[in-house]
Amino acid sequence: MAAGKGTRMKSARPKVLHRLGGRALLAHVLDTAVQLSARRAVVIVGHQADQVQAAVQALPPTGTELAFALQEPQLGTGHAVQQALPQLGDDAITLILSGDVPLTRPETLQALLALCQGSQLALLTLDMADPSGYGRIVRDGQTVTAIVEHKDASEAQRRITEIYSGIMALPTRLLRAWLARLDNKNAQQEYYLTDIVRFAVADGVPVLAHRINDAVQVAGVNSPLQLAELERALQLRQARALMEQGVRLADPARFDMRGQLRCGADVEIDVGCVFEGQVELGDGVRIGAHCVIANARIAAGATVQPMTHIDGEQLGVEVGAGAIIGPFARLRPGAQLGEQVHIGNFVEVKNSTLAAGAKANHLAYLGDATVGERVNYGAGSITANYDGANKHRTVIEADVHVGSNCVLVAPLTLGAGGTIGGGSTITKSTAAGALTVARGKQVSVAGWQRPVKKK
Ligand code: UD1
Ligand code: MG
Repeated sequence: MAAGKGTRMKSARPKVLHRLGGRALLAHVLDTAVQLSARRAVVIVGHQADQVQAAVQALPPTGTELAFALQEPQLGTGHAVQQALPQLGDDAITLILSGDVPLTRPETLQALLALCQGSQLALLTLDMADPSGYGRIVRDGQTVTAIVEHKDASEAQRRITEIYSGIMALPTRLLRAWLARLDNKNAQQEYYLTDIVRFAVADGVPVLAHRINDAVQVAGVNSPLQLAELERALQLRQARALMEQGVRLADPARFDMRGQLRCGADVEIDVGCVFEGQVELGDGVRIGAHCVIANARIAAGATVQPMTHIDGEQLGVEVGAGAIIGPFARLRPGAQLGEQVHIGNFVEVKNSTLAAGAKANHLAYLGDATVGERVNYGAGSITANYDGANKHRTVIEADVHVGSNCVLVAPLTLGAGGTIGGGSTITKSTAAGALTVARGKQVSVAGWQRPVKKK
């Protein structure tokens, strides 16, 4: 169900497309369905349907077939599921999930499906200290007899702490028959899905509750505060999973992963780091505090010092074994750094290859460059790679020493082992082994008298 408006988010974006751990809420729910090997996922859309449908269609394909049902107008959860009926097979079990409840564990739903046994109505329920707003599970002895919505509940029913999570599993053919019997004679004049419990009881079909105690698994997102709370819950869950694999997080409460992070052995991550997209950290990698790292592979033994920003976007970034990056470094798409490369503070590298042992330690720019082994690239030097219309490459062969504050106007090649004098503006390729200086000659005037101010 993803047709509701989400008024309390106070946002132009459909609620189910708000992001949790870097992915839409609805993507988490669909992922759960995929993990259960669902044959088909029917997404019920309504409010901002086009946008929600487009976002779902943009997700990578999986083994679960995707289908959509349009609910227009939105007349309640029962009415929502009615719209999906034509797409549900009579031989199947239907599992009803909410697009705004993202953290239900597949194991929990597996247990719910097992309880349904292909023939019964299984409800996921939970005890809540403050159950207000939720549908209450009404029991006669142990037997579930109804779900009563908060707004329709009596004083006595409102004291019930067992609530309905919004998640149920049941045979599709029973769902079809019961939905046909719904009406909207209730406090909200909505077609309540929850009314089918009474029909099950009337028809003698067992209604079973799978009662859990982990509130995060059924927590829905209705407001920015709840979204932020669930974000922390997700991050803690992810942090724990990494720590169980041996990753040493300085503080699991100050860790954010918005994508996938794969770590080797003995990885250490200091506080305040954010990982996005696909990131791989090899054995013994150390990440300093407050780094943002996206779409990058960092090989064994490399160190990323504090405040470094790495974003590979589509091209990716590669950092070689034993490299030292940062503090305050910036690696952009297509930065490919070999073993033992050093990139220091305020150095930006984009679409450039640096071979083993190359160093750019201070205040520099390397864009569209091929840098050989052991090159030393001086402080303040830049590749002028863009002529205003096109990008050009700079090739710096092995063992070149580029002094400080040089401008290398691409395209050009600096021959192996050459030296570029500090402050040079290089516009032509240089020969191997040569010293090249391209700047005004130094002139000194002995005993020079500075002008004095006139009275
Ligand atoms: C529902 C349950 C309630 C349960 C609670 C758990 C009903 C009648 N009540 O209440 O027992 O405790 O969830 O969170 O089912 N939606 C549609 N179309 C609609 C209405 C809703 O697609 O016409 C979607 C919403 O986008 C949302 C989900 O259904 O994803 C639940 O709707 P919501 O209005 O939040 O239900 P509650 O009133 O909270
Ligand atoms: Mg409601």
